[in-house]
Amino acid sequence: MTFALARHRHVQLVEQIRQHDEAYYLHDRPTISDQEYDRLYHELLDLELAFPELSCAESPSQRIGGAPLSAFNSVQHLSPLRSLDNTYSQTEVREFVARLQRLLPGEKLEWILEPKVDGLAVNLRYEDGLLVVGATRGDGVTGDDITANLKTIRSVPLRLNAGSQGVMRGKVEVRGEVFLRKNAFSKLNANRITAGDEPFANARNAAAGSLKQLDPREAAKRPLDLIIYGVGFLESTEGLPLITHAESLSWLASLGFKTPARTWFCRSTDDILSALQELEQVRGTFDYETDGAVIKLNDIALRELAGFTSKAPRWAMAYKYAAEQAETKLNAITIQVGRTGALTPVAELEPVFLAGSTISRATLHNEDELRRKDIRIGDTVIIEKAGEVIPAVVRVVLEKRAGDETVFEFPKVCPECQGRIERAITPGGSGVVWRCQNSQCPAQVRGRLEHWCARGAMDIEGGGEVLVKQLVRQGLAHDVSDLYQLSLEQISGLERMGEKSARNFLEGLVASKSRDLWRLLFGLGIVHVGAGSAKSLGCHFVSLDALAGASHIKLAQIDDVGEVIADSLVRWFGDPKNQALIERLRVMGLNFSSELYRPAEAVVVGPFAQFTFVLTGTLPTLTREKATALIESGGGKVSGSVSKKTTYVLAGEEAGSKLKKARELGVTVLDEPSFLKMFEDSIPSD
Ligand code: IVH
Repeated sequence: MTFALARHRHVQLVEQIRQHDEAYYLHDRPTISDQEYDRLYHELLDLELAFPELSCAESPSQRIGGAPLSAFNSVQHLSPLRSLDNTYSQTEVREFVARLQRLLPGEKLEWILEPKVDGLAVNLRYEDGLLVVGATRGDGVTGDDITANLKTIRSVPLRLNAGSQGVMRGKVEVRGEVFLRKNAFSKLNANRITAGDEPFANARNAAAGSLKQLDPREAAKRPLDLIIYGVGFLESTEGLPLITHAESLSWLASLGFKTPARTWFCRSTDDILSALQELEQVRGTFDYETDGAVIKLNDIALRELAGFTSKAPRWAMAYKYAAEQAETKLNAITIQVGRTGALTPVAELEPVFLAGSTISRATLHNEDELRRKDIRIGDTVIIEKAGEVIPAVVRVVLEKRAGDETVFEFPKVCPECQGRIERAITPGGSGVVWRCQNSQCPAQVRGRLEHWCARGAMDIEGGGEVLVKQLVRQGLAHDVSDLYQLSLEQISGLERMGEKSARNFLEGLVASKSRDLWRLLFGLGIVHVGAGSAKSLGCHFVSLDALAGASHIKLAQIDDVGEVIADSLVRWFGDPKNQALIERLRVMGLNFSSELYRPAEAVVVGPFAQFTFVLTGTLPTLTREKATALIESGGGKVSGSVSKKTTYVLAGEEAGSKLKKARELGVTVLDEPSFLKMFEDSIPSD
């Protein structure tokens, strides 16, 4: 294919994929099948591989996420990101409207009421229509540059749609809220629980964790979304119909942004109060969490007249709905021992009805949390259900403390087996957890057997809580290999086990012997190894023996694995008890190999393969991002610091210490023209 043809096709593909993304991610109306979409996407990637110079800032290939960062850079917003005054009181809403009316006498005030998205504020800057930088709020003036993570969000346009006056010229900053959809959050938490990790307390924390990932590929795995609700900076308003906020929102939508799902137009305080009520009724149907409403003055010129206080605009206010809470008595605190040995304190409550269900237990997370909240047995407590989350004890109602409440003594040994317990930090760093160190602890054994049989793991029908409990109690199963020696008589002799169910269970066990390696790996319940990492490991090593013999370094390099999981794997396979278990499973005839599709090893090709570049100073024409893209498209790597391993330093004006270091180490220094020449020389001519 000639370059001219390739370029033509590339332009077509970028536009087609953009349109499909818009239909799917903005309007929830897919226009093609996933397969067809993948075909277009791979055609684009192949074209960019053959002609790297086609890769450009607006290409969907830029969403995949580049190399992990060591820290976020800071960026200054073009205009500050302010927060809002908050209230829970309708009286204060009335006062807010009255205050503004006093400030703007004689004006007929109109309002737009929007859902307040419970996420994280971000700022996106576009220049001449292209997304150049995305940042967190930070201190309002300067935030963290999280452009790579924001680009992974498919509803974020990389280039703005052209309006009636053609390409959007100059600089624009738009503001919005990043969030994790409710279903994505539940899935993420379910995966964390099955992998033995602590779940996120709410969708907002999970979204924050994802946005702050230094590795954009990690961020890409969590389906974040973004709603844009305002313009922060506009270089030129010429020709734009932006007299009111309602107009700004439609303009933002026409540029390709996802804007609030529903808004209410209000002419009076009464309109506002009834809109607040209506929103409260419908907000449960939105696919994201909302914690209230934002009431905004519609007329933009009037906003300017109203101005700002030192903290917030005078023309807008956030009204928050009280979280769904209930008061009840804490009768007891019990300790639940999970399959990884984690000891979780659980509040046993006087049953109470809350947000659609009766609650009698709530998690107390861990010992530190118990102490911090000073929760005692017999206390009256407030429990809360925030969105989809497991109910939690928020606080103690101190006024109701009678004095006879007792402080809970956290056990010094495992309450199940009296074994030794040890404190460990959870990998997310979200807390400290005590773990029972006795791998033969009956609670852990039960947990491991149930997990092995679970649908997401070895998928053995009938291997649920009731059966497993009896098998362990009767001493019929100590580990998962024992399951494969059970006889029909032994199983059918158990309570609530007819011969038919016993036969089904046995058949399930036989079928499980040929399951793929990833299911077996996940089923073994190795701490932190979720289904995703088990699949990557299966794909990579193909056989269990190859995996068991792999070094920490090798493991940590695999997608979806990393240091923490590698550590856990090395420890697990190094334990002679586990090695013996593997041998027993081998004897029972379990499949130890993976049939998962294994893409051919990516061979790095291109003019810069094996080369490491360091960029320093300001280049005459190329931005840092563009230079990085060219290097990476040529198979090279970009590193942040100069060392003996650096092949070239690409230096521009005001290059500082890196240039000095390059000279000291004798590393070749290139300027932009020689770099571009090197790149162009390597492109095969048509
Ligand atoms: S407008 C200067 N609109 O809630 C006005 N904010 O509690 C800027 N938020 O800081 C904010 N949904 O992070 C606005 N529809 C919405 C919003 C919204 C959520 C966040 C935002 C803001 C915070 C205030």
